[in-house]
Order: sequence, then structure tokens, then C-alpha cells
Amino acid sequence: MCGIVGFVGKQQAAPILLDGLSRLEYRGYDSAGVAVVSPDGGIDVQKSKGRLQVLSDLIHGGEDMKGCIGIGHTRWATHGAPSDVNSHPHLSEGGKFAVIHNGIIENYVEIKEFLIHQGVHFRSETDSEVVAQLLEFYYNECHDFLEAVGRVLRRIEGAYALGMLCADCPDRIIAARKDAPLLLGYGDGEYFIASDVTAIIKHTREVAYMEDGEIAILTTDGIVVEDALQQPVEKQRHHIDWEVSAAEKGGYPHFMLKEIFEQPEALRRAISPRLKDGRVTLDDMKLSAEQIRNFSRIFIVACGSSYHVGMVGKYNLEHLMRRSVEVCLASEFRYSDPIIDDHTLVIVISQSGETLDTMAALREAKARGAYILSIVNVVGSSIARESDDVLYTWAGPEIAVATTKAYSTQLAVLDMIGLAFGEALGTVDSAEYDAAVEGLQKLPEQLEEVLANCADIQKFASEHFNHNSIFFIGRNLDYALGLEGSLKLKEISYIHSEAYASGELKHGTISLIEDGTLVVALGTYGRLFDKAMSNVVEVKARGADVLALTTDAHRAEMEKTVPNVLSIPNTVDMLLPSLGVVPLQLFSYYVALQRGCDIDKPRNLAKSVTVE
Ligand code: F6R
Repeated sequence: MCGIVGFVGKQQAAPILLDGLSRLEYRGYDSAGVAVVSPDGGIDVQKSKGRLQVLSDLIHGGEDMKGCIGIGHTRWATHGAPSDVNSHPHLSEGGKFAVIHNGIIENYVEIKEFLIHQGVHFRSETDSEVVAQLLEFYYNECHDFLEAVGRVLRRIEGAYALGMLCADCPDRIIAARKDAPLLLGYGDGEYFIASDVTAIIKHTREVAYMEDGEIAILTTDGIVVEDALQQPVEKQRHHIDWEVSAAEKGGYPHFMLKEIFEQPEALRRAISPRLKDGRVTLDDMKLSAEQIRNFSRIFIVACGSSYHVGMVGKYNLEHLMRRSVEVCLASEFRYSDPIIDDHTLVIVISQSGETLDTMAALREAKARGAYILSIVNVVGSSIARESDDVLYTWAGPEIAVATTKAYSTQLAVLDMIGLAFGEALGTVDSAEYDAAVEGLQKLPEQLEEVLANCADIQKFASEHFNHNSIFFIGRNLDYALGLEGSLKLKEISYIHSEAYASGELKHGTISLIEDGTLVVALGTYGRLFDKAMSNVVEVKARGADVLALTTDAHRAEMEKTVPNVLSIPNTVDMLLPSLGVVPLQLFSYYVALQRGCDIDKPRNLAKSVTVE
């Protein structure tokens, strides 16, 4: 999704902006641009469709653009095709204002018609250009940059993170935010705006997150922030303790592979501090045992892979808590008139903490009285800030578009919620609880074991990367796991794939199985192993080529029927998907590698989906 970076300081801005944009590439984009306040007066804008390298070559790594104040943007097209002219920054007709924008201006058509009627000429098809043109229109009336910004913000509707330059006020950037992430960076005599901390972490670790309605004015003297009522706001600063190297590849060919291999460490960070004396201790959660007992309805709300974490969680939480748990896609939940009262708990799951649908679902649930407990990776993100309670996953920055370590850590945190709530409710069997805690303790180590045995997966992938369609089948926890395996495969390899509950095969899907169809049969859940086997036999009988995943305990049994078997170490039932997901991630990775796909930045996808 679109990326924003802005710089005010004493160094030449353009190379810093390009570097910042390069760190946002992972979010997905189709064009890029920068604008710099030129020392000779005026604003210099350079932008181009395609990779950032195209822009960088055009301006010789930024050397060609003089000036120490500027803004940069990577665009992910929504309104108007990817093209040079639709790229940001947008310059107003008179050249006085340059604007970068993330989000969507919902009433842009009406504003555009109004401005055209006033004689303004538009260049692009974007909604964002109206901001630049409207700024100039109001500025021509009031001759005050900040006042013009205020008038624009009162006129536009929708979501925005904005960075704005004015040729008449060459010492500053003005930034504004509503429903789209934007943070401020505090360096030594230099200041930044960014949509994502990775863009500026090389320069500063001191950041503050802008809130909806706030306006920030950045000059070399510092950053002044005002709220919507023009009252000064004292921003709370956060120290980012990620290493810069965490956002670099560190010798791996792709971020995705690096992040797959980081999972044991990420799980240690997510789990260890929350296990004390054999008990799950969620010190970072505010909910009391009494509040937990008072919940009569529980929802899990998320998108994509985070939703798949919820699908696994439903099985585990219902078993541990003996309460029904409804798992909802955030994009559906927000418009579903959900039945919520003040005895409702909504568990929101999001890696980025900025997914617009998830955020909207959270707000809907909160407005109806629900208690919001979120599981989030990005500290200080919008979802984290608007939740009543947050459990961070501490997975570190996830750069590859396809999530891996965020999925694993979200799942571990959700499992720990299940155990802690089960204990508070008195619904979890104590021997099962102890075994689960032991399993959680061993999980990182067992994952290392799975990763050490990845050669078989690579070999199988190199023999089966040419399929047009791949099915994942499984029951119960294995079905939920299959949903994630299938999504991972399709998003990075572009192979059509579906996940089915094995019991459903006979009700329609089995008609798709023919000679040579590849079926990934998931049979890790021991209690239903025999049923999984009979589904394997069924698809084999129709000519399917089967890759099976099971546990070490069942490997020999599975090998009697299937030549290609992968296995994971034995563990308690609830943790099987936590181990099982790793071979599936690796399978997708190696298939995509064989097919020459752009693994870290798959086509049409963005890391953080901040539009509806
Ligand atoms: C798939 C993937 C997406 C995200 C989804 C939600 O690999 O990464 O499906 O899981 O866009 O994103 P977050 O978790 O940031 O809300």
C-alpha cells in the first residue's frame, strides 16, 4: 500500500527520501515520486511509474534535486491507473503546493467539479490531486499555509495521511492524518514524517504517532502538533528498539525466507515472558478474571492470514473455554449488524495494526459496547491504540508481503489467551493445561527441528511447481491450517489453490480431482488421523498426486499409502498448526522460487491494506 516519507533538516533531502522509500517498497507499489523545496524558489517534483530504481536513475540517486526539505511517496493505484501523471507528489496548478496522500478522499468528485467550475485544470485521474488544488484555491483566498490546510481538512471526507509543501513557506512540511497511519520522527536537528517506522529508523528511533484530526508542522526547529481545535498537543514519544538489520535481508535471498527462519526466535519473544512457574501469565493484559467470566459472547475479527489464525483459535478456544467463539472476516463483520453488547469480547488480530477493514470492525464493535482485546505486531499502531487491551506479538518487523512469523506469533498469543481464559473460567483440564504449557515452552525448539529438515520440501516443490491448481484438505485443526497453506501458495506462486474440509469433498469438490491433480493432505490431528487417511485414499483413487503432512507418530502409517510424506514433531493437539504451518510456508516459498515469482512483493498485493 502507499508509502509516505518526509524530511526537514540540513542535508540534501532527495537521497534521504529515496532511501526511505526503498524501505517501504515491501508494502507494494506501482509508482514513486519525490518533491523538494528548491533553494532557487518553487517546488521541484520528479515522479515515475514503475520501480523506485526508475525514479532513482532519473534523478541520479537524488543528487540532481537540491534542497533540504522534501516529501516522497510510493503509490499503490486505487483511483486512476499506475502512470507518471497519477503518481504522487501532486503539484497544484500554480505550482505552489505539492502533496502526497495515503488513503481515499471520498468526496473528491464533488470537490473536483467545484474546482473545475472555478477554472482549475486537473492533470491526473486521482482523488489525491484535489488536495493540492484545493490547498492552492484556499491559499489564494487567505495567504496562510496552515489556515489553507485547515480549510482543506474541513472540506475533504475520507481517510488520509498527508504530507504538504508550500513554495511560499519553504521552511516547512505540514502533515495531517485521519484514518491512515502517519508518524513523526525526531532526529538531531532533523525531523521526519513516515507512514511506517522502517522508512526512517536509519535516522532516528524516537517517534510519535499522529492521531486522527492532528496537524503537524515540521521545521528545523522541531515539530509542533495541533489538534483539530488548533490546540497544541504534547506528543508522547516512543523509542523503537528494533535493530536496523531486522529490516534487512541478512544474507537470505528473500525477506520471506528470512522471516520463516526467524520464527523460533520470534516465538521465544512472544511466549517466554508470558510463561511463569508453569502458568500462562498475561501481565500485559488488563482484563481481570471476573471480567473474563462476564463475557457471554466472543468474536475473533481479522483479515487474511490473521483471520486464519482466528480459524485455528476457534477450535482451541472453544475447547479450552467451553464458550462459543465466532470468527469473522473484518470486511464482513463491519457491515453485518453484529449482535454485541457490553458482555461481548472482540478479539481483533492484525500484524500491521493498520488494516482498514479490521480497524473499522473494531470501531463498530466498540461503539456497540464490546471490550476490544487486540493481538498486534506493530507497537503503537492504530488498532493497538484504539483497543481496550493489547497483547503484542513481538515478532519484529515483517517485511515480506506474505506473512509468516506474524501468523505464528499471533497463533501462540491466541493459544495463551485460550489457556489463561480457560483457567479463569475453570474449564480447562489441569493435565491438559500443563501439557500445553510444556508444549509452548518446547515450540521454538521444535520449530528449529522442522526448519532443519526443509530439504525434502524443497525437493518436492522442485518436482511439483508446474501445477495449475493445488488443493489442501484436512479436518478440524488441519482444515484451518489448510486455509493458511492455500493462501500462502496462491499469493506468492499465483497457482490457483483451494482449501477444503475433507468431509466436504464428497459434497462437490471431489469432481475436480483427476489424474495428476496435486492434493496436499493434512493429517496432523491424531484424533482424526484415520478419517484423514480415508480421504487420502479417496483422492488417490481418483488419480491425485498426494503430498501428506502428518506427525512423526503417524509418519510410518501414512507412508504405507503416500510416497511423499512430511512430518512434524509430536506435540499437544492445540499446537499442531503452529508446527504444521512451517512446511506449508516453505512449500509455497520454494514453489514460487521455481516459478521465478517476485516472492517478497507479489503482484497486486500490499503489505498493509489501508483502503477498503
Ligand atoms: C497474507 C497476508 C494478509 C494479511 C491481511 C491482514 O500473507 O499477509 O492476508 O494477513 O492483509 O493484515 P494484518 O494482519 O496486518 O491486519
